[in-house]
Amino acid sequence: MDKLIIKGGNRLDGEIRISGAKNSGLPVLAATLLAEGPMHICNLPHLNDITTMLALLRCMGVGVTIDERMCVEVDPGSINDFTAPYELVKTMRASILVLGPMLARFGTANVSFPGGCAIGSRPVDIHLRGLEAMGATIEVDEGYIRARSSGRLKGAHIFMDTVTVGGTENLLMAAVLADGKTVLENAAREPEVVDLANCLVAMGADIDGIGSDSLTIRGRERLQGCTYSVMPDRIETGTYLTAAAAVGGRVKLKDTREGLLEAVLLKLDEAGASLSMGDNWIELDMKGNRPRAVNLKTAPYPAFPTDMQAQFTAMNAVAEGTGTVIETIFENRLIQIHELNRMGASIALEGNTAIVTGVERLKGAPVMATDLRASASLVIAGLMAEGETVVDRIYHIDRGYECIEEKLQLLGADIRRVPD
Ligand code: EPZ
Repeated sequence: MDKLIIKGGNRLDGEIRISGAKNSGLPVLAATLLAEGPMHICNLPHLNDITTMLALLRCMGVGVTIDERMCVEVDPGSINDFTAPYELVKTMRASILVLGPMLARFGTANVSFPGGCAIGSRPVDIHLRGLEAMGATIEVDEGYIRARSSGRLKGAHIFMDTVTVGGTENLLMAAVLADGKTVLENAAREPEVVDLANCLVAMGADIDGIGSDSLTIRGRERLQGCTYSVMPDRIETGTYLTAAAAVGGRVKLKDTREGLLEAVLLKLDEAGASLSMGDNWIELDMKGNRPRAVNLKTAPYPAFPTDMQAQFTAMNAVAEGTGTVIETIFENRLIQIHELNRMGASIALEGNTAIVTGVERLKGAPVMATDLRASASLVIAGLMAEGETVVDRIYHIDRGYECIEEKLQLLGADIRRVPD
């Protein structure tokens, strides 16, 4: 397994491009199963999770071709197997997103039951109950979800107990081909859900309430293929802004936009960052100052995103003052504080709250990544620390950050990848 070697202390200063959003590309690629003809999906990031989703579509017999700009043509016309196998689902839980579209279009779907992961149990009960409300029969047998629908799914009025991004996406993709009207209440409003809905509308779907917590879908008999470009990655954007804030640097990010991460920008402003932005860029400048500690509590969009919590915990570790970080979405997503404390941070854990007392400098150390965003927080810590930090198990990082060491090198970081 590759490692990242980081020599801390360099002040980041430079300009990089933000890639397309992993968490939009994944549901949009799943949605191609709904189309009568080929679809062209552009601005996909070069990430392991995206290649896993493409491998999943291919193993079902779906035609997948990639052009030199990483635009992907997907043609579901050749599908011949309605199974998402354990070998692929175990490497990427988001494979569950093929369940709704496959069932809605073909009336059958067998998807390996996604297990939990480092950050939590990650149940899919709301996905399954919603599909049953639309007339599907669902059985779990030998580790597989076996879903069947005799004829078209039926529109239904569904209230989701918890705000779930994946659950909203799966049920939205099922509803667009259902017979009749579906209302999804307490729906997730994340920008990636909006991006998926916009893609479905471009395919001919009839959806009202996009961006709100109540989606009304009038099912169609068929949807057409289209060309769709996924939105910029707001979490990648927030990660590089937070890295620059942590080291007192300056960074300009292109091909992104402020409206995707306003809660994060407000917290960076509170931390003392000076922010400027245009239609498709955001610039942060700390003017060499140490960040001020901030308090935050994660919650569904438009509140502060859980996917940015670990990065801010790292920034708070060297900030002026004490900041509290409350994680309300996942039961085990403060796991990175133990590795940060090994680097000299002073973080106390009380239930789902981390109390972070800022120290002047962290000390480089060998650390181990446990999940995607925790890995990003360890890279940020390495950039700030005195001496050398070796981040192990960086396959987690490669799932969600395209060319992370190249982008950080462009910003002036002393970072290199070494094969294990
Ligand atoms: C999506 O995961 C993202 N992944 C996650 O990003 C993100 O952290 C999460 O949404 C929250 O924003 C993708 O989009 C591929 P949820 P998802 O269903 O859909 C509970 C990253 O780092 N729940 O919104 O799996 C669940 O336990 C990844 O890029 C149920 O109880 O998250 C959790 O507490 C990590 N029953 C809460 O809802 C269900 O049926 C939110 O989970 C479904 C979810």
